[in-house]
Amino acid sequence: MPESRCLQGIWSSPWIFIFAASGSAVGLGNIWKFPYVLGENGGGAFLVVYCLCLLLVGLPVLIAEVALGRTVRSNPIDTVNDLSERRIVHPAWVLVPWLAGITGFLILTFYSVIAGWSIAYLDRAITGGFDNITQVGASSMFNELLATPSEMLLWHSVFMVLVVLTVGQSVTRGLSAVVRILLPVLVVTLLLLACYSMMIGNMSEALNFMFRWSWQNITFDVVLAAVGLALFSLSVGMGAMFAYGAYMSKRMSIARACSIVVGVDLLVALLAGLVIFPLVFSFDIDVQADSSLTFVSLPIIFGNLLGGQFFAGVFFLLLVVAALTSAISMLELFVAWLHEKFYIARLKAALLMGMAVWFVGIAVLLSLNHWDSKLMFGLNLFELLDKFTSLILLPVGAILLSVLVAWFIPRPMLQNEMITKQANHFQWWYKTLKYISIPAMIVITLAGWIGV
Ligand code: TRP
Repeated sequence: MPESRCLQGIWSSPWIFIFAASGSAVGLGNIWKFPYVLGENGGGAFLVVYCLCLLLVGLPVLIAEVALGRTVRSNPIDTVNDLSERRIVHPAWVLVPWLAGITGFLILTFYSVIAGWSIAYLDRAITGGFDNITQVGASSMFNELLATPSEMLLWHSVFMVLVVLTVGQSVTRGLSAVVRILLPVLVVTLLLLACYSMMIGNMSEALNFMFRWSWQNITFDVVLAAVGLALFSLSVGMGAMFAYGAYMSKRMSIARACSIVVGVDLLVALLAGLVIFPLVFSFDIDVQADSSLTFVSLPIIFGNLLGGQFFAGVFFLLLVVAALTSAISMLELFVAWLHEKFYIARLKAALLMGMAVWFVGIAVLLSLNHWDSKLMFGLNLFELLDKFTSLILLPVGAILLSVLVAWFIPRPMLQNEMITKQANHFQWWYKTLKYISIPAMIVITLAGWIGV
């Protein structure tokens, strides 16, 4: 019997799921965010906690999302509607995929602005803009960009056009063509960059910083940052992986596929660290330099290196590509829903959603300069969206989705999905999700809110 498929088709080969999901996972979170969060949280200790979070929280939740997507083979909103029509779950659960879609939408509004900075830096890199740049010069270059809405608007628009054109194709075709080539290129190039950086930079201090374990450095904040980054980096909590799971062939073991995605995600984050830290230490730059690590420190380094212009070009190109394959997954939920529910052509649906994101994105980039008013809690729109999505919407989305799968979807339905001829990881996953991942996420999120 041919296997059931969803309206969007299924991935042309089981492996494409792994490429697409890894493409979604690997993004600004790995290359831009991971190194500076590692720096802020003291290196090696954070890394150990982060790996544990990936394994005990990220992986089980990722499996839950993908499995739920594959059971019904529809977009997340219709999947939950379908389950409630069959009286399997209460209709109120449909709020969860809606929340997930809105989270993706909101994340994309500022993700696209940051991706726009990456294109701006790609432009500077290839035109020799970093040549012999000093610390002062690099900071003022970044500040100047933030103070120039017209330039940010240009690159934000270019990025959104790329996103819309890719999502507008059927993901099972458009996206798979993109990720199949780009992901291996990204990993190999990062590997080469990391070797180069270790050769010319301060390798021993970098390795010592990244991998040295010390108990004293583990505080509650470190754990909180690690869980947040693990969820963000694996793209869970907003239905993107749920949608990708719907296109996955039944022949593939979900647990195995998801474990590979987690492995690739961690590998890329580590490689990004190995590119950045040897250079940071040899140039004596502060490792705690938050988001300016990528946009201020790296240009100084590249600008003063032999062949720096070429390596800077490659690095920022990679950053843009990684951001693109992630951004696509943030729009997929609503685009698939509009297509399946209202028969709107995918390109039209992508255009509609893309324009809405683009509009809000304009407000976001203006909040960095002309409209820098504090809206709430002393934060401007950019900061507010970042905090609101990563501290509230994503963890709440991840918790609700996991609770839905672990406690409300009938066990045999999941068992069917998880057990393949080649593998049976069901028990292990089910117990970890129920008794470790969900309680851990609840405790950590609540403690984070109360400000323990
Ligand atoms: N994982 C991506 C990154 O590391 C970002 C991302 C894509 C994401 N889709 C997501 C984050 C869904 C949260 C939810 O940059």
